[in-house]
Amino acid sequence: MTATQNIAAGNGKSRLTFADVKAGATTAAAGTLAGNPYLPQIATVIDIIDETPNIKSFRVRFDDEAVMDALAFDPGQVGQLGIFGVGESTFAINSSCSEKRYLQFSVMKAGEVTSALHELNVGDKVGVRAPMGCGFPVEAWKGKNILYIMGGIGSAALRATISYTLEHREDYGDITILYGARTPLDLTYKYDVEDWQVRKDIEAVITVDRDFPGWEGRVGFVPTVLEEMAPKPANTIAITCGPPIMIKFVLQGLQKLQFTDEQTYTTLEKRMKCGIGICGRCNIGPRYVCVDGPVFSMAELRELPDEM
Ligand SMILES: Cc1cc2nc3c(=O)[nH]c(=O)nc-3n(C[C@H](O)[C@H](O)[C@H](O)COP(=O)(O)OP(=O)(O)OC[C@H]3O[C@@H](n4cnc5c(N)ncnc54)[C@H](O)[C@@H]3O)c2cc1C
Ligand code: FES
Repeated sequence: MTATQNIAAGNGKSRLTFADVKAGATTAAAGTLAGNPYLPQIATVIDIIDETPNIKSFRVRFDDEAVMDALAFDPGQVGQLGIFGVGESTFAINSSCSEKRYLQFSVMKAGEVTSALHELNVGDKVGVRAPMGCGFPVEAWKGKNILYIMGGIGSAALRATISYTLEHREDYGDITILYGARTPLDLTYKYDVEDWQVRKDIEAVITVDRDFPGWEGRVGFVPTVLEEMAPKPANTIAITCGPPIMIKFVLQGLQKLQFTDEQTYTTLEKRMKCGIGICGRCNIGPRYVCVDGPVFSMAELRELPDEM
């Protein structure tokens, strides 16, 4: 199979050449439709949600209805969101794959691009190149228990996957969500958290790092709470995303709990430029995070040099 066929078939794990991209690979479908993979599609901000003091979610809709109608993505895929004259950055697509009215990106203020994005208003125009990369293998996980372990803005990378498994609830076994933030104010998607906590068909454990006035919920770091919960590895997939230090201790904890590398997944944040396997900016050894990831199993990561 050529890289184009691989990607068009959804296998994704093959590096693009520029010729592939020109031939119409679907990795950056929106830009490719216009014949140039670097060309963003124009979209309009239709809603902005203040998630936390430094994270905003932007709901955007492509101006070209044909692009909007054609858009399809897998949970875990990412996109480039940008402002003309400022630049673009990579963000997880965190709206549900079944949501056809908009794409949602959540942006934590970090530097130039993210600060400019935080100044946007409803009605403003942005550039979007999406979807990019590989999503989580949710089809292969059917019949298994799913354990999400996430911290802070790491929730953005897992939100579409959580939505997918909840929308296809009957296809999965037990679903457990462990989510932590520094304080209750730093919890994203409070609307989701409220829903998860009342649902009887999942277990949601929400924790904050330390006592906070008015917080009556759990207190403790995510890796410590994971150890206390002591989930059983049998027939279970564990997926984690959050700050690097949290991921490090969660992975150690999962290993102690006897989760194998094949049962453990994460999604990497490696700085990207082109997002389509051309510029070489995001490589870890021989793999490019933008096309081979950002989703990786621990088994795949063990094969790579320790460059993160
Ligand atoms: C696959 C992927 C998915 C991502 N998803 C999200 C998301 O859903 N929401 C979100 O808020 N952010 C996400 N990020 C991170 C986001 O892309 C960066 O925060 C953003 O590019 C910073 O741009 P800036 O111009 O504002 O900051 P800059 O001025 O470029 O940098 C500000 C600070 O952030 C650091 N930084 C910048 N980019 C990264 C990065 N990729 N990884 C680690 N540190 C970085 C810089 O070293 C610097 O210290 C994701 C990154 C990747 C690669
Ligand atoms: S190769 Fe350009 S960002 Fe991955």
